[in-house]
Amino acid sequence: MHHAAYVFDAYGTLFDVHAAVRRHAGEIGPDGQLLSEIWRAKQLEYSWVRTLMGGAYADFWQLTEQALDFALRKVPSADPALRTKLLEAYWRLDCYPEVPAVLKAIKASGAKLAILSNGSPEMLGAAVKSAALDQILDDVFSVDAVKRFKTDPSVYDMVVTGWRLYPGAVSFQSSNRWDIAGAAKFGFRTVWINRTNQPDEYRDFPPALILPSLEGLLAGG
Ligand code: LAC
Repeated sequence: MHHAAYVFDAYGTLFDVHAAVRRHAGEIGPDGQLLSEIWRAKQLEYSWVRTLMGGAYADFWQLTEQALDFALRKVPSADPALRTKLLEAYWRLDCYPEVPAVLKAIKASGAKLAILSNGSPEMLGAAVKSAALDQILDDVFSVDAVKRFKTDPSVYDMVVTGWRLYPGAVSFQSSNRWDIAGAAKFGFRTVWINRTNQPDEYRDFPPALILPSLEGLLAGG
C-alpha cells in the first residue's frame, strides 16, 4: 500500500451484484443467472446511453428498476412477481468476503478510502451500512453530484477535486474493465480486480496491475 488514497468501484468490486438474484435463486428457477446478466448489462447500457445523449440523467436506482423490468420480460420463466424482492435485495447486497479485512488494513496504513460509483447516494448508503463499511470509508462519491455516469471524466474528477490530490496519487480499483479504461484515461493509477477471469480489452488504456481479488493489495499492490 503505497498510495495516498484508495478508491473503489462499488458494484461488482465491493458488492456482489449477482447476490440479489442468487438470494432468490430457488424461486426464480433455472434462468436466474441469465436474468441477472441481462439485468446488469441493461443497467450499464442505460447509464452509457443517457450520458452520451446529454441532459438525460436519471439516477442509478431508476436505471436498475428499468433494467430489471426489461430482464423480466426477456426471461419469461422468471416470475415478474419477484420484482419487489429482487429490487429490495439490491439495498443489502453481500460484499465479497475479503472486503472488510482489506479495507481495514488499508485504512490502518494511513491511506484515505472511498467509493466512487454510479450508484445513487441512497443505494450506496444502504449497501455500505449493511456491509458495515461505514466506519471504514472516508467518503462515498456518487455520480449523482455531476449527473453523468462513468466513464465521463467529470466522474473521476470528483475525487481529485474533493480531496485535492493529483490523479496519480489515487489508486483506483474496479472489477469492470471499462471503468478501469475510463479511470486510466483520466490519470488514476488503476488496479483491475478481475474476479471472473475475463479476457483483457481496451488495451490502449491498460491497468497498472491486475489482481484476482482485493487481497493482493495487501501484498504491496
Ligand atoms: C459502479 C458501477 C460501475 O458501482 O457498478 O459505479
